[in-house]
Amino acid sequence: MEYSRYGLAVEIVREAGKIIPPHNTSQIEFEEKNGHSDIVSKYDKQIETYLSGEILTAFPSDGIIGEEMKHPDSGDWIWYVDPIDGTTNFVNQRKNYAISLGCYHNGKPAFGVVYDVAENRMYHAQVGRGAFCNNDRLECGKRTALEEMLLYTPIIQATLIDAHPLRSGMRRLARDVRAVRSLGSVALELCALAAGEADLFIAGCSCPWDHNAARIILEESGGEIRTWENDALPLDAKTNVIAARQKSVLDKVVAEYWTD
Ligand code: IPD
Ligand code: CA
Ligand code: CA
Repeated sequence: MEYSRYGLAVEIVREAGKIIPPHNTSQIEFEEKNGHSDIVSKYDKQIETYLSGEILTAFPSDGIIGEEMKHPDSGDWIWYVDPIDGTTNFVNQRKNYAISLGCYHNGKPAFGVVYDVAENRMYHAQVGRGAFCNNDRLECGKRTALEEMLLYTPIIQATLIDAHPLRSGMRRLARDVRAVRSLGSVALELCALAAGEADLFIAGCSCPWDHNAARIILEESGGEIRTWENDALPLDAKTNVIAARQKSVLDKVVAEYWTD
């Protein structure tokens, strides 16, 4: 049962990538949802419509929680759909965005699929079966020295600029790592940790559809993810997030930097 949902997920996410227009298409039109920094294009809506239609046709009793529209959202199996994570990148750069589909069974992680369309990289993981990028197995590396690490943070404003109780600790951390980067896609930044391209991740606010697929990929690669309060991530609520490629690194960051 689980395998067929996973197989369907990989297949429909790849198909959904074909909805994205060719790179040379002129300007992608978009509209603002909640102000100038939260936008949506017709492709976000088309992809969510396609994915939800395929899921509910195959599994009519499942629930779906999507970013752009309402769906039946109860059932033993719940799917989290972010049709384009990184819409601003999609509109401005035509790269650094992903289609994200995560699935949970009775509240527990089942599998996650994150498709970097521009790079044709399909990240995928089933709980207990490892994480992959296309056919290559992903394993979190052994880097433990902070001065060698790359820190991703999707909204720098919320972690390092705006006032909050952990800001000075985060600023110390930002000075102690080798570099700080912001890609602007929660899903791809978490997959970058799984792939060993970055080491740490902090986000001030992430929605279930942003991280619920990629967190499974990260955890299956050996990584660790929590809230800033050191709790397990809530399944269905907006949350702050800290993640690392190794539990010991995350423990060290919380112990040494989560203070003023
Ligand atoms: C956004 C991206 C971005 C993050 C925002 C998200 P969207 O998703 O993941 O990196 O900082 O919080 O809303 O709107 O492009 O799907
Ligand atoms: Ca998103
Ligand atoms: Ca989105």
